Amino acid sequence: MEMASSAGAIIDGKRIAAEVRRSVREHVADLTRRELRPPRLALILVGDDPASHIYVRNKSRACERAGIAYLDIRLPEDTPGERLLEQVDELNHDDTVDGILVQLPLPGPLRHLEPAVMERVEPSKDVDGFHPENMGRLLLGQPGFVACTPLGILFLLEQTGVPLEGAHAVVIGRSVTVGRPVAALLLHRHATVTICHSRTLDLPGHVRRADIVVAAAGKPNLVRGDWIKPGAAVIDVGINRTEQGLVGDVVFDEARQRASHITPVPGGVGPMTIAMLLQNTLRARTMHR
Ligand code: GUN
Repeated sequence: MEMASSAGAIIDGKRIAAEVRRSVREHVADLTRRELRPPRLALILVGDDPASHIYVRNKSRACERAGIAYLDIRLPEDTPGERLLEQVDELNHDDTVDGILVQLPLPGPLRHLEPAVMERVEPSKDVDGFHPENMGRLLLGQPGFVACTPLGILFLLEQTGVPLEGAHAVVIGRSVTVGRPVAALLLHRHATVTICHSRTLDLPGHVRRADIVVAAAGKPNLVRGDWIKPGAAVIDVGINRTEQGLVGDVVFDEARQRASHITPVPGGVGPMTIAMLLQNTLRARTMHR
């Protein structure tokens, strides 16, 4: 007789992010009670990509609610690269600024400068964790800023209580913002990590052996339910705008039938990214007197 399979637990990123944000807010309130200045984050947005506008607006709102001060810096799409780098320098030297975030992607004509801009941010203000020094520290297991989305993913996995040590984690996607850093974090927690990407042969074969799946390819409905090993934890990082609305990289309804835990889209990883940005900004504050 076939056993009825029960659907996996939904990981409520919205609720968990709200808890992190409340904790940050309490720490900031404690600073103010002690008559210390609150953290201050500089948000730089270049150009008028609509999605980037929404992301930056959400970040500034989250700062407001947490009691974190922010500087909203908007530069036109045709800003010369030198001007953008000077803006970063100015913030590097400003003692009232703890964190600097340059919203990515930069507009077309500046896209090639992304690595130079990331490298220009003072590492102790690099709340995005994209500076080569912080990336290097992450690989070396040394203290430094870690990118927000990977931090959020680890936080969610820890909340589920699924064991990471010895688990086989399959990361789909090798981006600098998610795939590579999350693989390093999982490795530090003693998972066996496989990084898959667009040239991987037999992606389904890899995913079928995973205890933990982190889907960060940016391809709508890439991961099918029958790829999921029964009992696996599934973290869907995809935010894909399609005609069917916002969908993840995982076919949620299918995968949920097999997973032990799964993140929804929206309401899974997304809210965690901002919560971790606030946490990184608070941490940057403790590094600047
Ligand atoms: N664009 C998409 N995700 C991110 C992020 O985490 N940080 C920045 N700066 N830009 C992004």
